[in-house]
Parts: sequence; C-alpha cells; structure tokens
Amino acid sequence: MTEARKQQLQAELNSLTVHQETRVGWDENTPPNETLDQYGNLLAQNRGVVPVPDNRSPKRRIYDDPTVETLRAHLRKHNGIRGLEICDPSEVERAARIFRRDGFVVIRDLLNAEQLELWRAGCAEALRQILDTPGPGERKYMTETGRLPHRYSYGTCSASRQMLHHPAWANMLDLPTTTPIVTEIFGSSDYRVWGSGGDLCLPGAIEYQHLHSDGRDGQHLSEARIEGAKRVGVEFNTDSSGNFDVPTLKLIMEMTPPTVTINFLMADLTWENGPIRQIPGTHVVEQPPPITDDEPDWMRHSTLVGAPAGAGVFRDNRAWHGATPNLSKVVRALPNVEYAAPWRTQDGFKIVMPHEMWETLTPHAQKMCEWIKAEPGVWPPGAGIMHPLANEREEAAKS
Ligand SMILES: [Fe+2]
Repeated sequence: MTEARKQQLQAELNSLTVHQETRVGWDENTPPNETLDQYGNLLAQNRGVVPVPDNRSPKRRIYDDPTVETLRAHLRKHNGIRGLEICDPSEVERAARIFRRDGFVVIRDLLNAEQLELWRAGCAEALRQILDTPGPGERKYMTETGRLPHRYSYGTCSASRQMLHHPAWANMLDLPTTTPIVTEIFGSSDYRVWGSGGDLCLPGAIEYQHLHSDGRDGQHLSEARIEGAKRVGVEFNTDSSGNFDVPTLKLIMEMTPPTVTINFLMADLTWENGPIRQIPGTHVVEQPPPITDDEPDWMRHSTLVGAPAGAGVFRDNRAWHGATPNLSKVVRALPNVEYAAPWRTQDGFKIVMPHEMWETLTPHAQKMCEWIKAEPGVWPPGAGIMHPLANEREEAAKS
C-alpha cells in the first residue's frame, strides 16, 4: 500500500463517527464473503471458525454497483417488520409481555442526550482501534477473524472479550429506563451482568449474516430456575405420575431466558443501514434456523426499521437474529449489555472489569458485577486491547 493511500485511510478514520456519513467502509478490494483466519490469512478453504456465506449478496463492494443498486431498490420497498411495536420506557409490563411473546422488544428513549453522546464517542474510538490494522494486499481493513467482511464485534475484538473496562459501556449497566424492565422480565433484581460488547457493520457490509441464536439453552430444570418461573407467574400442573406435565415444562423454559441482552442504537435504524433482523417467537424453538441459502424473503425483511437512535432492543438471546446489509454511508453500531438470569450459577463468568471502574458504579450495578470484577490493583487480562485477529488478541491477553 502506498504512503499516500495510508494517509488517506488514516484521515478517513480520524473523522469517523458512528452516526453520521463517513468515508469509512465500502472497500471494493474486499470481495464478497471473503474471510480470514486467526492470523489474517485469506481463507480459500474455511478453517477454524466458519462463517456462513451469503451467496445472494451483490457481486462487488461498490456503493453504486448495479448489483448493489438492485438490492437497495428491493430493501427500500420491502425491508422492515410491518407494525413494529415500540414501547416507552414507562410501559414496563407491556414491554415484558411483548418480550415474552416475541423474544424481543424495542424501547425508545433509553439514553439521554449525554449518554448517547458518550457511547457514540466510545464506539467511534474503539472502532478506530479495530480498523487501524490494514488488510492483506490493497484491502482497507483487516476483516475480523471468522466474520464476514465489514462486520465486527466490540466484544470479540476486545482481548478481554468484553468492553467493561471502558466508561461508556460500564456507565450503561443500570439506567432508570432499563433496570425496571430487566427486573420485570426476570421477576427479580438479583440478576448479574455477564458482559458488554455489541456488534457493528461498516457501510458496504453487503452480505446477510446467517440467522443464529446467541448461546444454547441447556434447558436444565434446576430448583432455582423453577423458582424463577414461579416468580414470573408460571402455574405448575402435574401429570398422572406427579411430575410437571409437558405444557408446564415448556412454559417454565419459555418464561426463563438464561440471558437478556439490550442492544442500544447509536443511529436510527433505516431500511438501508443494516437494521438487525429478529424472527418473532423463535426464542423457544428447538429446531435450528434455516441456513442463509434457504432463508425465505420474509425472514430477511424481518428487521427493526424505524427504531430511533437512543432506543434499544431487549433480546432473549435464544431468539433467532442476524445482521443485514448496510448499503448506506453510515456505520451501524449496536453496543450492548448482557444480563444473566438470577437462577444461573457463577459457571462461565470471567473477570473483565477493573476494580477502579467497579468503584464508580451505582450500588445495584456493583452488586450485578461482583462475579466479573477484578481485585484492586489487578488489570483484567487483555482489557483495553482491540484487534480484529484472534491470534493478536490471544497474545495480548497473555502478556
Ligand atoms: Fe448474535
């Protein structure tokens, strides 16, 4: 890469925001569906984590390429859930009802102007770090290991796997607009913070990410989970041998999501900028979602178009969801906070929050973070290092 081009890319990054038009993205030198391994090698044959290609994507990553224009015209006409309900933060019971029915709910005005500003700045800063490494050959950026081009996760790009060393993320754990709704969904305020990261796509992320659930629900029937179901009003019925009958078992699982994630919107979601897609009612479906090649159009259009900046989507992590093409000139960033149900054990929680950050939190947030905070003077491994390649992150976490 020439010095002039390097300087041009640096200038693009310096002026980057996650809510206004930017020249970042739209790298025509990154072919559709191209992936990299943990060292940054181009994957002819997929090794390691296997992303699912979108074989229906536009042919070239160029803003006004005819195949992009065709997809753009299609999305303008069809993208977005018709009649998407959007709640006010005060509608706590309605929000929980929609969440349990659909596996997600959109709430507006979660962030005030100051919080939105803080998080936008944090998202731009972390994204600059991620994009700082040029890609192989003439490519503008290093694609994240195991992901489709122009798609990154703040969580997985952080060498600590979370963003809770950063004040923008740590400050959003306990908000007057979100805590009552999370408490209503879990039926208790004894839930925990699991982590905080979120995903983003650059302008020119032309491929659909495959539909997936975040994590698997083992559906173990622990005493604590049964208690959790009772707290949210599940009525218990038994069969002739005195065990819970099948409808009761199903209802216990439906009403007790192991994890609830809130993804916050840094910009309005439009038909063009890669709105997240959620498939209603799939939070308790045992079948896997369709592979990308088989996904019907109605699922590809089942996106949260119309949700405004400062809003958030509360997601049951089990519900099928996926990212969609960003054909705009604006980054689509959805930083998140992930909460673990009160009935979960400490199994799998990792130390990701510095003690000094924990000290700045509200009492409720401090309680929620007891299982993930470091001891005084101990820095969580990898915290503060952002890199698109898995190998670089592993090395950073070791040193
Ligand atoms: Fe996901």
